[in-house]
Amino acid sequence: MSGSGPLVVGVVGAGKISEQYLANMAQYPDLDVRFVADLFPDLARSRADEFGVAGSGTVEALMARDDVELVVNLTIPLAHAEVASAALASGKHVWNEKPIAAARVDAAGLVAQAAAAGLLIGTAPDTFLGPGLQRTRQMIERGDIGTPLTASMVFQTAGPHSWHPNPEFLYQAGGGPLLDMAPYYLTAMTQIFGPISRVAALGSSAGPTRVIGSGPREGESFDVTVPTHVSALYEFAGGLKAQAVFSFDSALKRVGILEISGTDATIAPPDPNRFTGDIRLITADSPEEQLIPAGDRPAGRGIGAVDMARAIRGGAAYGGHRATGALALHVLEAMFATAESIDSGEFVRVESRFEPIPALPDDWDPTQRTV
Ligand SMILES: NC(=O)c1ccc[n+]([C@@H]2O[C@H](COP(=O)([O-])OP(=O)(O)OC[C@H]3O[C@@H](n4cnc5c(N)ncnc54)[C@H](O)[C@@H]3O)[C@@H](O)[C@H]2O)c1
Repeated sequence: MSGSGPLVVGVVGAGKISEQYLANMAQYPDLDVRFVADLFPDLARSRADEFGVAGSGTVEALMARDDVELVVNLTIPLAHAEVASAALASGKHVWNEKPIAAARVDAAGLVAQAAAAGLLIGTAPDTFLGPGLQRTRQMIERGDIGTPLTASMVFQTAGPHSWHPNPEFLYQAGGGPLLDMAPYYLTAMTQIFGPISRVAALGSSAGPTRVIGSGPREGESFDVTVPTHVSALYEFAGGLKAQAVFSFDSALKRVGILEISGTDATIAPPDPNRFTGDIRLITADSPEEQLIPAGDRPAGRGIGAVDMARAIRGGAAYGGHRATGALALHVLEAMFATAESIDSGEFVRVESRFEPIPALPDDWDPTQRTV
């Protein structure tokens, strides 16, 4: 057990997703957000003001604060490793947005650095901690679909350049539909079924540039340097076989599709990029689809940081946190294996493994004060 009272948090990165995090974390009393930092301190100031956070400024100023215990890293993927490593070096735990880092070596380095320092590193997505995927997991584990055999994952849109005001990072190293969107689907799958053992994939791109579709920079063109369409086959160490499409090249939008088929039934949880919704169950002997509400237990981006706060304060009695760096590192390795297979035309093995991720208790509620 370490410390007492709400875990003191500093946020780095005052961009688009910081709005959701700051709004949610204000509702989670086990977290106490005291500082917002950004490369642009004015941006940090206005975000801090918007959400009633007292402190704001540079990353260096945040790292120098003795009171901050957890850095919530909401920078772009290419900055994740540098910011997270500086936080760990300052003796602070880290919650990272996904992917854990833009390079495999950096991700492995962060996990090792945290372990050596006796600090925790957690990584988004935390959507799998929402009732949608937790309930789905319970249903699979109690045998509702029989023996799980196969799965399908689909995320396809025309791409986020149409709505994101600064979308370059989503089309460069650390981004693309693979590193930006596959974490939701592959984390959902691996927390239930364990590690992926090998991957084969094809990739392509609709063109070398895109044009920003909204915001102050609308009409500006930028370079695309990663595949924008990926189709992949994943084999899990436990034997399950899955197929996936991750694409920014489709005028037809189909997102949030995760369908898991077993010997007795197919289950389709809500969008793995969301926290709740209806679960669909289709059994072999009754083709009528059953809609099972996952429930409205409170959940939103940031609950992974609450889980960390409870693990840090509660020690062994709470058990570990769930969205671990080791899980994120495995998912990153699976994504890099996907990219490697696109280049080589061969199956690529995924060697890393992670401790099983415990399910959340049904009454787990981030809006309750517990520390
Ligand atoms: N936008 C979304 O809907 C969304 C959803 C889920 C997850 N995410 C993830 O959240 C992260 C941020 O995404 P975003 O859309 O908010 O991006 P963004 O570009 O809107 O914001 C990123 C912010 O980080 C700051 N920044 C960049 N490098 C920095 C550094 N070295 N030090 C300090 N500040 C730095 C930028 O100035 C910017 O304000 C990404 O990892 C992304 O994958 C985004």
